[in-house]
Amino acid sequence: MSGQITEILQPDAAGLDRAAALLREGALVAFPTETVYGLGADAANEDAVARIFEAKGRPSRNPLILHFADVSAVRALTEWNDAAEALAEAFWPGPLTMVLPLRTGAPVSPRVTAGQATVAVRLPAAPIARGLLDRVGRPVAAPSANRSGQVSPVRAKHVVDGLGGRIDAVVDGGRCDMGLESTIVGLAGHPVLLRPGGVTQDSLETVLGRALGQRRDTDAISAPGQLRSHYAPRARVRLNAAEWEPNEARLGFGNVAADLNLSPTGNLDEAAANLFEYLIRLDSGDHPVIAVSPVPHRGVGVAINDRLSRAAAER
Ligand code: TXA
Ligand code: MG
Repeated sequence: MSGQITEILQPDAAGLDRAAALLREGALVAFPTETVYGLGADAANEDAVARIFEAKGRPSRNPLILHFADVSAVRALTEWNDAAEALAEAFWPGPLTMVLPLRTGAPVSPRVTAGQATVAVRLPAAPIARGLLDRVGRPVAAPSANRSGQVSPVRAKHVVDGLGGRIDAVVDGGRCDMGLESTIVGLAGHPVLLRPGGVTQDSLETVLGRALGQRRDTDAISAPGQLRSHYAPRARVRLNAAEWEPNEARLGFGNVAADLNLSPTGNLDEAAANLFEYLIRLDSGDHPVIAVSPVPHRGVGVAINDRLSRAAAER
């Protein structure tokens, strides 16, 4: 790695050319997607992929998502199937990740899959991400661009605060639109919801024409994003706060007075977009506890509550 200085790149043609050249040379470059900022590396480059784990402090058994500019490249690397085809047509490019069997001999570092026979793949929708992936011309492995176990970044500043000096560059594309990581669906057998996100379970089931299996907490942990404690701020998090206690930082939802409000009008998309940024902001004060209003458990509210409950879990 080039060392101490993390370059900040503009999301224009020159900045994306530079970012793509760095990635092709084996550097680590963070970039915005419509969900959160990803920390990218060339997926075929063993050393570059190893440095992702090092920079994040990520356990090596936690596999990475591959990012692509077009679906034909995904088909070439995976054992593609009908369910994948239907979901790709409905939701790609967009905030959906599919876990599929990796094709034998596919040029993907085994570190990406953590030695598993499956690989997670995604086609982001954000124009900056697409522009970058197009220029790189190869799959880019990219976990969220935060230190392992911490809140995912939705601004370039969050990336620099967590990983500055550990990565080569970050493309500054402002705030991510959706603010929550992609929905992950396992398609190596009967379709299973592995992580809730902006693409809801209902809309997946409508396209697939059948019910998704659910991951159970007793299942082997194949994805540490599924660990009970994750997305953890420094402060303790108290959920479903009906009223506030003294000394708490107050994160509201709906028509309540609070320090920050995820959505005063009770709009779940707006709440999702604000969630990580507001958690990060409230965490930078010196309150020992962040209390959060109840968030309805429907639509993207399921993903919001998933992230909140992991932020609140015993560490
Ligand atoms: O929105 C997103 O998905 C963002 C942006 C950057 O694309 N990425 C992201 O990556 O959230 P990460 O690494 O923070 O979360 C990926 C999750 C992890 O929980 C990982 O364990 C799981 O995907 N995963 C990756 N490969 C898998 C596989 N083969 N089987 C099951 N889970 C897998
Ligand atoms: Mg992550």
